[in-house]
Amino acid sequence: MGAGKTTLGGLLAQRLGRSFVDVDSAIEAHSGVSIADMFREQGEAAFRAVEEKVIGEALLMPEPSVLALGGGALGSDPTRERLRGRAFTVLVEVDAAVAWERASVSDRPLARDEEQFHALYAERLPVYEAAADARARDLDGVLLAAAGIHVGLGALAELGSLVPGTGPVALVADPRVGGIHGAAAQLALGDRLVSTHELPAGEEAKTVAALERLWSELRLDRKGTLVALGGGCTTDAAGFAAATYLRGIAWVPVPTSLVGQVDAGIGGKTALDLAGGKNLVGAFHWPARVVIDPALLETLPHVERAEGRAEVVKTGLLAGEPLWELPEPELVRRCAAVKAAYCIRDPLDRGPRAALNLGHTFAHALEAAGGYAELTHGRAVGLGLHAALRLSVEHAGLDPSVLRTLEEALPLEPARVDRERAWEALHRDKKVESGRVRLVLLEAPGRPVTGVELPDEAVRAALDGLIAG
Ligand SMILES: NC(=O)c1ccc[n+]([C@@H]2O[C@H](COP(=O)([O-])OP(=O)(O)OC[C@H]3O[C@@H](n4cnc5c(N)ncnc54)[C@H](O)[C@@H]3O)[C@@H](O)[C@H]2O)c1
Ligand SMILES: [Zn+2]
Repeated sequence: MGAGKTTLGGLLAQRLGRSFVDVDSAIEAHSGVSIADMFREQGEAAFRAVEEKVIGEALLMPEPSVLALGGGALGSDPTRERLRGRAFTVLVEVDAAVAWERASVSDRPLARDEEQFHALYAERLPVYEAAADARARDLDGVLLAAAGIHVGLGALAELGSLVPGTGPVALVADPRVGGIHGAAAQLALGDRLVSTHELPAGEEAKTVAALERLWSELRLDRKGTLVALGGGCTTDAAGFAAATYLRGIAWVPVPTSLVGQVDAGIGGKTALDLAGGKNLVGAFHWPARVVIDPALLETLPHVERAEGRAEVVKTGLLAGEPLWELPEPELVRRCAAVKAAYCIRDPLDRGPRAALNLGHTFAHALEAAGGYAELTHGRAVGLGLHAALRLSVEHAGLDPSVLRTLEEALPLEPARVDRERAWEALHRDKKVESGRVRLVLLEAPGRPVTGVELPDEAVRAALDGLIAG
């Protein structure tokens, strides 16, 4: 009572594109009387019976939805049982004093006497704790919890308890990240750690040759977990190893780069590159947990950090908020939650998740044209965003001031790659359908449009504008 579940539930449903059932309102609609009247005229037991029925029906709806449960709903055994089978249950944390302040001014039958209210709060808390799959205090917290993402300064030291289960763990990192943070990860994993492995740094990790070495070194059984410590290249490649080794074992990315923490480590897409294009081989393999420790960014080289900001700017443009202006730990948490929402909403990338590719059709073309060595993913995404926003101004009615904001946040520095190679690579993008390039554009900050087809000349001109000479 008074935790803000109704407001939070409504916002959560909006972010996830799901319907929202506020159980108290549904009961009032169903019975035609207010809850206060129902309590007065029929008693609490009658109310609880209707409540149980309404929740039972809501949980049987075929499409996933967001439910806000009344404070006493968990007193019912059948409701607790149904939640275990059909729901991911989040306990919205609130201090008793704040809850009283909010609930006492409402018309809630069980919030009339402060002492009784506190007694009820204390009595209910252990029931909530037992039923909850996770706890959260705000919208981002709920989204992160639902996606299995733990964000916290110092989280690396807790890795041992954050990797789900009790089975054996193998740790993989690239030489640089392993050299800096490997020992701390090993210490945190303790007895569960059975082996450590290396993937080459950068896109070299995302090759069949690197994967073959890793596959043959692994000695995990099917209860094992592969922990991937590193940037997006390490987590993409290790995630693919986990998706395929023994036909799939659990994995936990521990992203250490800015790109990894706000994007690559989240959402279960894993991939390798082929000479002809990026990420052309891969699998969807949702991690058992994602452990994000923003403190690890302190050792990230300046260039990686600066260029990685492109994914932050992308996320901010999609969310319609200048997230790139936030201080780093908060920036990471907010961006991770935006990405998590897209991925929960569309885990297999069949619809709205495509928006996350804003700027990426161009970025992947530039990366492939540069042989994956000429420019980092972050730098390529920064360039791709310029092209996508320019086309958005010309073809999707985007206000030109947004393009200027981008130019301030990420100055455009053209890439030195071969134009023809880039143009060819652009057509090998996964988003090409029947030979037509399909782009993500922005109508306004917070309003992406996907699947946009434009005349070749327009796309070519936008790509050419990103290439030097
Ligand atoms: N799967 C997805 O959803 C997704 C999303 C975005 C990007 N990606 C992929 O991610 C890759 C790019 O990721 P990236 O930019 O993290 O590259 P990366 O993995 O190559 O890391 C960049 C460099 O920074 C170093 N590094 C990383 N963390 C460090 C730390 N804390 N301290 C010191 N050095 C550190 C690495 O050793 C590497 O040299 C691309 O292949 C891209 O396609 C995947
Ligand atoms: Zn990216």
